[in-house]
Amino acid sequence: MTVLDVLIEPDNRLHKISKPVEKITDEIRSFLDDMVETMREHDGAGLAAPQVNRQQRIIVMELPLTPDAQENTVFKMINPEIIKRGDLHCSFKEGCLSVPGERIEVDRIADITVKYLDEFGLEKTLEASEILAVCIQHEIDHLDGKLVLDYLSPFKRKVALTKLKKHYH
Ligand code: NI
Repeated sequence: MTVLDVLIEPDNRLHKISKPVEKITDEIRSFLDDMVETMREHDGAGLAAPQVNRQQRIIVMELPLTPDAQENTVFKMINPEIIKRGDLHCSFKEGCLSVPGERIEVDRIADITVKYLDEFGLEKTLEASEILAVCIQHEIDHLDGKLVLDYLSPFKRKVALTKLKKHYH
């Protein structure tokens, strides 16, 4: 397995719309393993393919399946799509490997149902709430070219971008 390079904001490649995966191959499965390795190396809870410069609709996460679960589960999702959204909202201070050093509170839906393909091409659905639901929405945002910084006011966003430019570029 390989640890991949993570793109850091500001970077136009993080703002492209990712394309659906058409065929799930050994290469995709090996890429998923590399993504998990990369996420773990950086102590992240989630990673989306565009963050490692691949504009395809692929995300990985490692989080408890339910808010009271003791152990983490690794999720590998291809072409994820939110098919149901609950009425409740929640927010957490979200970190992002492409936005190091920042934690940004984002208003999200607290309960969602997500449909995706697993690494063998089987269609799955998952009901997720709270942190897992937030993480899925955060990672799907990446596939649509949207980062947590994009939820800030233009002024706060500019300040954060200047800081990132100075320290990471
Ligand atoms: Ni992120």
